[in-house]
Formats: sequence, C-alpha cells, structure tokens
Amino acid sequence: MKITSKQLRQKWLKFYEGKGHVNIGAVSLIGDGSTGVMFNVAGMQPLMPYLLGKKHPDGTRLCNVQGCVRTVDIDAVGDASHFTFFEMMGNWSLGDYFKKEKTAWTFELLTKVFGLDKDKLCSTVFEGNDAAPRDSETAELLKGLGISPEHIFFLPKCDNWWELEGTVGTPCGPDNEWFYPLDVNKKNPVFPDDYVEIGNDVYMQYKKTESGYAPLENKNVDTGFGFDRMLLFLNGLSDGYKTDLFLSVINKLESVSGKKYDDGGEDRKAMRIIADHTRTAVMLIGDRQGILPSNTGAGYILRRLMRRAIRYCRQLEISSDAMLGAAKIFIENVYGEAYPLLVEKEEYILSEIKKEADKFEATLAQGIKEFEKCVVSLERKNEFMSKSNPSYVKETEIGGKQAFRLYDTYGFPLELTEELAAERGLTVDKKGFDEAFEEHREKSRVLAAGQFRGGLESHSEAATNYHTATHLLNAALKIVCSPDIQQKGSNINEERLRFDFNFARKLTPEEVAEVERLVNEQIKLNVPVVMKEMSLEEAKNGGFVGVFDSKYGEKVKTYSIGEFSKEICGGPHAASTGLLGTFKISKQENVSAGIKRIKAILLK
Ligand code: ALA
Repeated sequence: MKITSKQLRQKWLKFYEGKGHVNIGAVSLIGDGSTGVMFNVAGMQPLMPYLLGKKHPDGTRLCNVQGCVRTVDIDAVGDASHFTFFEMMGNWSLGDYFKKEKTAWTFELLTKVFGLDKDKLCSTVFEGNDAAPRDSETAELLKGLGISPEHIFFLPKCDNWWELEGTVGTPCGPDNEWFYPLDVNKKNPVFPDDYVEIGNDVYMQYKKTESGYAPLENKNVDTGFGFDRMLLFLNGLSDGYKTDLFLSVINKLESVSGKKYDDGGEDRKAMRIIADHTRTAVMLIGDRQGILPSNTGAGYILRRLMRRAIRYCRQLEISSDAMLGAAKIFIENVYGEAYPLLVEKEEYILSEIKKEADKFEATLAQGIKEFEKCVVSLERKNEFMSKSNPSYVKETEIGGKQAFRLYDTYGFPLELTEELAAERGLTVDKKGFDEAFEEHREKSRVLAAGQFRGGLESHSEAATNYHTATHLLNAALKIVCSPDIQQKGSNINEERLRFDFNFARKLTPEEVAEVERLVNEQIKLNVPVVMKEMSLEEAKNGGFVGVFDSKYGEKVKTYSIGEFSKEICGGPHAASTGLLGTFKISKQENVSAGIKRIKAILLK
C-alpha cells in the first residue's frame, strides 16, 4: 500500500486543521428525520442549518471524515466500485473563505500532499443558466494555479450543480469537480472517458425554493471527496475491494470458502456483496443511534442488506458465520480506531448479526425451494398454454401472493425475491404483493384485538418495552430517592407499567420530574439492552440487582442497560432503549406504610 486508510484520514484532517479548520468529528449515520432521508447521505447533511446561516459553535471553518449510507445503488453492489457505506472527507467554509482559497487549497492538497501530477488533473465548472451565472471566476483561478485551459471544462447543471434531491429549503450551488486518469500510465488520456471524479467543491450560495433558487446571505463552501475512492485511486488500484478497508475481509472469505476472489465471476460478486453489506450492518448497528433489523423504515433496509449477504453466503457454500468473521475484522482491524464506539459495542453487534443470520438461515433454503417451485409452475403453465394457443404470450411475472408467502413464511424481503426472479429473466407483481400485505395486516389486527380482549398473556412490543422501562425506572429511583430502593412488585400490561417499591412517602413533583428526565435521557441515548447468562455468584459480584433466592437456579439471565441499570430478570426486553418512546409517570399511590406505587406510561 502506498497510503493506508489510516494515513489518508489523518492527512485530510491535518491539512485542513493546518488551514484553521476545526475537526467536528462524525455524526450518526442515521438521519435525524429533518430532510426525510433515513440515512446520512453526505457530509453536509447534518450541517444544513449552518450552511443556511445558523452560527456553528466551532466557528466558520470545519472539517471531518463522515460516514454515509446510500442505498439507491444497492443492486449495483457486487461490482468493483459501488458501496452502500462509504466515508466522505469534507471541509466547510460557513460564510468565511470562498473560491480563491478553496481552489488553491484543493490544488495544494491534490498535488503537494497527495502527489498527483498537475498536468494530468482535469476540472469542470458550471456553464451557467437562468438561475446562476457561468462560473468563469473559478475557471480563471484554476488557470492561475497552473491547470491548462484545455483541462478545464464548462458543463451544464446536470453535471456541475450540487443539491440534495427532492428537498426544498436546502442549500445548493454550482460545483467544481476534480478528475484524474484512472490509469495513470495511459499516454494522452482523453477527458472524460479515461477519467474518474475524485471529489468536488460546492459553492453553496443558493437555497432551493418551490419555484427555483434564492441567494443565501452567506457564501459557503462545501467540499466532499470520497474516502474509499480516493484510497483506491491513490494506491493505483481499480478494485475497491483491494484497499486495506476490505483486503483482510476478502482474504478471510477466501479462506473460509476455499474460493479465489481473483477467479472473478459469481464467487467474486458474492464476496463483494457479503463484505460490503456486512460493513454497512456493522456501522448501522454499532452507530451511536444504532438500529436493528426490523420490518419497517431504516430497520428494513438493514434487514434487506443482511439477508442479501446471508443469501450470498449460501451461494459461496459457507455458513453466515462468515459474516461474524468479517464483522470482527472490520471492528478490530479496520475501523476500531476511527470509530471507537464499534469496539465498545462489538459483542452486541456480533450477537445481533448472529441473531438475524440464525433467524433467516433457518428458512432460507426452504424459501429458495419454494421460489423454485413458483418458477417451475410458471414454466409449466406457459408450456401448456403455448401448446393449445400458439399466439399465447408467455407470463414472466411471479405472483404477488407467492412473493408475499415468501416474505411472510420465509422472511424474504420483496427485493430478494425480485433479485432471484431477475436472475431468471422474470419480474414480481409488486402491486399484488402490496395487496396481499395489506390483507394480512388487517387480519392480524383483528386477531390481535380479539386475543387482547381474551386476556391472554402478552409478549407484545408494548409490553416488552414496559419491561425495559421498569428497569430504567428502578435505577432512576435509586439515584433520585435512595440507593436502598428495591422492587416490591411489578405488573405490566399493554398500556402501562406499575411498580411498587419501598419508600416512606410519595415523590415530590421535582423528584418525579428528575426520575422522568433520567429515564428519558437513557431512552434518547438509545442504549443497547444486553442480556448475559451467568451464575448467581457472578451476577452478585457484577453489581446486578434482583431477588437473590434459590429459585433462580445455577445460571441467571442478567440484563444491563449500559452502566445505568443492571438487573437479574427473565425478560423479555426491548433490544435498545431508543425503541421505548417518551416515559411519563402518570400516577402515584400508597400501597402501605412503607410501600409506594408508581404507574407510568410510554408515549409514542
Ligand atoms: N455535498 C457534496 C457531495 O456530497 C460535497 O458531493
């Protein structure tokens, strides 16, 4: 390696810190919902309010290396250069310096620090339209730096304008894109055919409105250079899975499967998909606002990624434990230093990957058989119909009900069925799938309501959340009221928790507020709820609270919520506190002289 990933990260940050920028670190990968996007897709996304004029606490010059997740191209993953997670090296001027400094610094970084040949660089600028003028200013500055005029191109909005898709009110502007030949040894490379984009400087001086663009008060700079791509490129490679971000993971997959990456074909594609999707899963589960695979929203995208990777493990004829091996390498050897939280959460991340893998592996083989049956019956039907009617148009669509059955019984995300279908030149009836989905949802709603009325014991999501909230409440009472607080009784249903404890008096309004605050703080932090089995002895020594009598037997289940709460308990519990909603104490009651009762609810 000419330059390692660790060196590249450092070089970027050091360079811009040297120019007065503050490294603001990376934020969560999970979108904050403000722009309607599920994941952070660009380094500028969390900085939007500041690009629009709000004062940033760290000043007007900022830089970082920010993780991003983009899943629009998920189907393209498997080639040499598409990834669902990548990092963006960024720096910003919030109404501070503008084009003169920016062009000079990017040029200096590329040619002096990264050692690129200035005569090989190409640069593109905005040609202008009704909304914004031609960016001759940047072109002149580039010439002044020594870039030949033949290497500077004026291009239209579709090439040289940067904005977040589909969102009004966001900052945007013309950009200056930087290109370099992919094969540096090629004689007389031609732009754009022989070139790749290595990054861009966006001159964010407009705001997108309903009808067009309005100038911003501040003229900002938003720079983004793709970390993964730059690493590849600076090492003279043309395959993103050969950089040190992936190499050891690919080697591991080779040794587990006994197959060679360089043999190419389907096996190489499978290794790439497993590696990419596992990396994204590690990052999303290990994020500070970590998510888990589920059937809705961002959790569903994570599930899709994980199940797709598991399916490709099967194709490589390896167990999905290979994903655990890959995840360990990502955490311990590749990303642990830049993302210490991953190391802290390693055990949790691995156990969640394993859970999802075990769940899906149990039904995957059967589901694939079921899918094959659908294909066979479609082929049979086509064959039969064509015989009796020569002008019959063959069906090429897997039915929506069948796709739903694969989803519901075998856990196949719709996209997985679509991918399997596409491999056979078939499509899936999506509308039919949605209809079957709706019909099923309605049925389960009716069923669940009936069961609840019948008073069956419930392990519903709501009740599970109340179990976890009870632990948080118990811990908060110990802090606010007295360390001697002990649970004297607990009752949970779908709508509230009830908790009895030893205390002489009711809580004051201030104490109630403080207990609520402490519990909600833990919920906001989205702390994973970690279960561990251990002997009673170990649990006692580990500071776990609970009823220490013999009924627990040798091994007990313990649940910890960070350092905040440690209890011996039978569960069930939410996977992490972020799922709980907002905690509110709704009532206090007197049970007896020394025992008080709290009822509390979780608001969604
Ligand atoms: N916001 C620009 C990008 O994402 C820098 O490429």
